[in-house]
Amino acid sequence: MYAIECIDVFKSFRPEGESPWHRKGQKVSALEGISFAMPQGECFGILGPNGSGKSTLIRLISTLLLADRGEVRVFGHDVRTAPLEVRRLIHRVSVEASFFKKLSAQENLDYASGLYGLDKAQARERAQEILLRLGLPKEKIRAPLEEMSRGQQQKVAIARALLTSPTLLLLDEPTTGLDPRSRRDVQAFIEEIRGSYSASIVLCTHDMQEAERLCDRVAIIRGGRFIALDTPDALSARYGDGEGLEAAFLRLTGEDPREEEEMDA
Ligand SMILES: Nc1ncnc2c1ncn2[C@@H]1O[C@H](COP(=O)(O)OP(=O)(O)OP(=O)(O)O)[C@@H](O)[C@H]1O
Ligand SMILES: [Mg+2]
Repeated sequence: MYAIECIDVFKSFRPEGESPWHRKGQKVSALEGISFAMPQGECFGILGPNGSGKSTLIRLISTLLLADRGEVRVFGHDVRTAPLEVRRLIHRVSVEASFFKKLSAQENLDYASGLYGLDKAQARERAQEILLRLGLPKEKIRAPLEEMSRGQQQKVAIARALLTSPTLLLLDEPTTGLDPRSRRDVQAFIEEIRGSYSASIVLCTHDMQEAERLCDRVAIIRGGRFIALDTPDALSARYGDGEGLEAAFLRLTGEDPREEEEMDA
């Protein structure tokens, strides 16, 4: 059984407002036929330019959005017909983490451990250990979340995701906005989880070295489609002249298709 299975997934939005690029009521296509299967225990990277559909795909997998067409399964459970089963198996970390902003990290984590049915004292200890390891100053644990920087809040979101041994972690840019040391701490942490709990991990990132270091396979997404999917080494060899994932990424996403045609002509 796969951790995640997506079959020909489409999603478009009808934005409320107008913008210079969109007429009112005009549909914006975010995903255009995504298919992949992710084995259990894999760390699967998704790399793509801004607006290419990464977060939309994460939201579909985590049952926050429904696909227009296609199937999404998490450990065999269809997200459409069994959302509760799916939610029990996943943890999502994203920049727009939902917290009670007037409450402290401690109170938010207590609330979460209550939802998971964990022993409060044990969960507290674990959360504190994680937060300290990620370099959150001890006194901040009791401060209202709204008084924390974005990076600090991100660390609380990571601690929350790790309160229980995660089965499927959906990490949407977990290190974006973190200082270099915190970024390393979080990456080391992800590596450790990967090794120790046989968790399955999806990692969306703009950090090529992070993907290279942590991911077994990487999908490159552009315009809502996977345009390449392989190990970092294979992508580097095939599209980046062996000069790494970044070279492959730039090559795959940088060229305007029209220019390509002209070049071919
Ligand atoms: N709720 C929404 N309403 C309207 N359009 C949306 C909505 N969510 C996403 N989109 C559009 O869908 C497309 C994909 O967005 P998405 O957030 O998935 O991109 P992303 O790859 O995560 O980008 P980033 O790297 O900037 O996080 C974009 O064109 C975006 O404007
Ligand atoms: Mg995003």
